Amino acid sequence: MIDTVIDTDFWKGRSVFLTGHTGFKGAWLSLWLNKMGASVTGYALSPPTVPSLYELCRVGELTTSIIADVRDLSSLKAAMIQAQPEVVIHIAAQALVRDSYQMPVETYATNVMGTVHLLEAVRYCGSVRAVVNVTTDKCYENREWAWGYRENEAMGGYDPYSSSKACSELVTAAYRRSFFASSRSHALTPSPAVAVATARAGNVIGGGDWGKDRLVPDCIRAFLKGEPVHLRNPDAIRPWQHVLEPLSGYMLLAQRLVQDGAKFADAWNFGPEDQDARDVGWVVASLCKKWGSGAEYTIDDGIHPHEATYLKLDCSKARAYLNWRSRWNLDTTIDAIVRWTKAYQDGTNLRQVCMKQIDEYEASLFR
Ligand SMILES: NC(=O)c1ccc[n+]([C@@H]2O[C@H](COP(=O)([O-])OP(=O)(O)OC[C@H]3O[C@@H](n4cnc5c(N)ncnc54)[C@H](O)[C@@H]3O)[C@@H](O)[C@H]2O)c1
Repeated sequence: MIDTVIDTDFWKGRSVFLTGHTGFKGAWLSLWLNKMGASVTGYALSPPTVPSLYELCRVGELTTSIIADVRDLSSLKAAMIQAQPEVVIHIAAQALVRDSYQMPVETYATNVMGTVHLLEAVRYCGSVRAVVNVTTDKCYENREWAWGYRENEAMGGYDPYSSSKACSELVTAAYRRSFFASSRSHALTPSPAVAVATARAGNVIGGGDWGKDRLVPDCIRAFLKGEPVHLRNPDAIRPWQHVLEPLSGYMLLAQRLVQDGAKFADAWNFGPEDQDARDVGWVVASLCKKWGSGAEYTIDDGIHPHEATYLKLDCSKARAYLNWRSRWNLDTTIDAIVRWTKAYQDGTNLRQVCMKQIDEYEASLFR
């Protein structure tokens, strides 16, 4: 077992190119990287929601923020060459399953060709040493079994979003073999200094997510309006985890890619513990209880698009080789979301609230 932790010294002054910094995960990661002293260039479309964590925490002030499209190869290349990053973290995506049914072409263009463009830009930017491409647990072929999925299991994906993320995985593996450092590389002209990995996480939740058709944001919107939550699929089980959990995995992975290169250039799962795979009804009941008066829910019996049944990630590899494991259980996570949202309701400085929650999470890393 390697004794690895997120190393502030590693990130201090490190140049990071982060796509998707205006979104939910990207805004949290920008704050965390900024806290550690990294120099972040963000590349993304405008925030996908109103309100947004990006605007509420004034993330643009802490990053060199470029509002542009990953479908535009020349713009992406120019931005990366200008930034000269050592670490690239690719988070930008059309991230909603339901929208992928409405906009399959845009979803594939962003999630698949966006990945191709990102990796092309890396090829032409001599400064990059590590790339982490963020995909999802939904990239696996769902065999509807009870065992956790390991990183070497087949790619699949039922709906356009999930399959686009599986494609993003395949694109990354092909680029790694063809152009970048890999123990199995057959590249004629590889860039051995670049180590490229992918990261697959579960259903990520946390304060500041306003995404549509997502359970926790739907609940928060209803609570703030004093209306009941209408639940679809209360029995559906999902692998819930606080947003800081996979983000800690992405940072640990990036560190190891820079330090040990090809050894870590592979796929990695960063999922919650088994007991945090809970059904939707349990999560909403717990949110209502912690929120207190005015929070209640009803069951919506309408017909809804297919969503894959529960798929569990086996995270043994991240535990063994990155010393990564889940630190906040679902109860702590829901508590943090309620505290964050009450602070939003009270008009508190939300950047400070996020930084405090990052402090609390960091403290749990050393326990
Ligand atoms: N939230 C989750 O539960 C979850 C779970 C697993 C994986 N993921 C993955 O994590 C990543 C971030 O998810 P999120 O919840 O923060 O999503 P989000 O919708 O909040 O943010 C998406 C980001 O991508 C940017 N973006 C979208 N299309 C773009 C384009 N064409 N060009 C440039 N930027 C574009 C948006 O502007 C935004 O910054 C995605 O890759 C998603 O697939 C999310």
